[in-house]
Amino acid sequence: MSRVAIVTGGTRGIGAAISTALAEAGYIVAATYRSDTRQAGAFEAETGIPTFRWDVGDFDACAAGVAEVAEALGPVDVLVNNAGITRDGTLHKMPLEAWQAVIQTNLTSCFNMCRVTYPDMRGRGFGRIVNVGSINGQAGQYGQVNYAAAKSGIHGFTKALAQEGARFGVTVNAIAPGYIDSDMVRQVPEKVLDKIIARIPVQRLGQASEIARGVRFLVADDAGFITGSTLSINGGQHMY
Ligand code: CAA
Repeated sequence: MSRVAIVTGGTRGIGAAISTALAEAGYIVAATYRSDTRQAGAFEAETGIPTFRWDVGDFDACAAGVAEVAEALGPVDVLVNNAGITRDGTLHKMPLEAWQAVIQTNLTSCFNMCRVTYPDMRGRGFGRIVNVGSINGQAGQYGQVNYAAAKSGIHGFTKALAQEGARFGVTVNAIAPGYIDSDMVRQVPEKVLDKIIARIPVQRLGQASEIARGVRFLVADDAGFITGSTLSINGGQHMY
């Protein structure tokens, strides 16, 4: 029996690598996106993975979107909360909008998506939830009070829901990526990024596929004893 998986932000970057890795492993995957229709179309044409458009920061849109996926592909067994944005800037210059946008898209989205998928997983006695946190939620990062707060929230959320889901066969884990070669990291000014890479023991950026490998491990049917954990994949930059 093939498991059905939703990967949010699943058509680009780390999310695209997760979607394709799960599809290759035999999962029936739905990749969601918010705005880039052209990119989603190209991803769907290239991979054959169906894409669904909604804003994961909008609760009602999540409820409608998940219902659409379940109707098309079957009940959702696996949820990967990957969608995320940055609005970097030092606190003394950060507009409220940059705080709210990042909390909404990176943290409230996790509540929204879990709230609409978890009850059914709980009822059916099986579920796998992987939340993508960040090294910067673990360690903090200059210029990212919004992002660090949201990602830190992801790690707390994960441990709390793991406790609720455990006796119903629903595992909830986090992955904390370090600096991955992606559009998001390429937005960091070059001179800042060079300094960051110099502090990574492995001496390079990570690849999206190296995060996808961790997701595949955590969502496996035989990973039922792994819950509430955080898998750090960061080239040794932060050992936590
Ligand atoms: N620690 C201490 N001081 C720092 C610093 C740091 N990490 N980074 C910058 N500074 C200092 C600078 O050296 C500079 O000081 P001087 O003027 O004395 O040289 C001062 O702070 C101002 O720095 P900037 O010129 O960079 O300031 P800015 O206002 O133009 O930009 C910023 C600020 C937007 C935060 C910019 O520094 C930046 O983009 N930093 C990178 C933030 C980052 O790492 N984001 C991660 C994005 S990827 C991601 O989030 C994915 C993930 O999960 C890992």
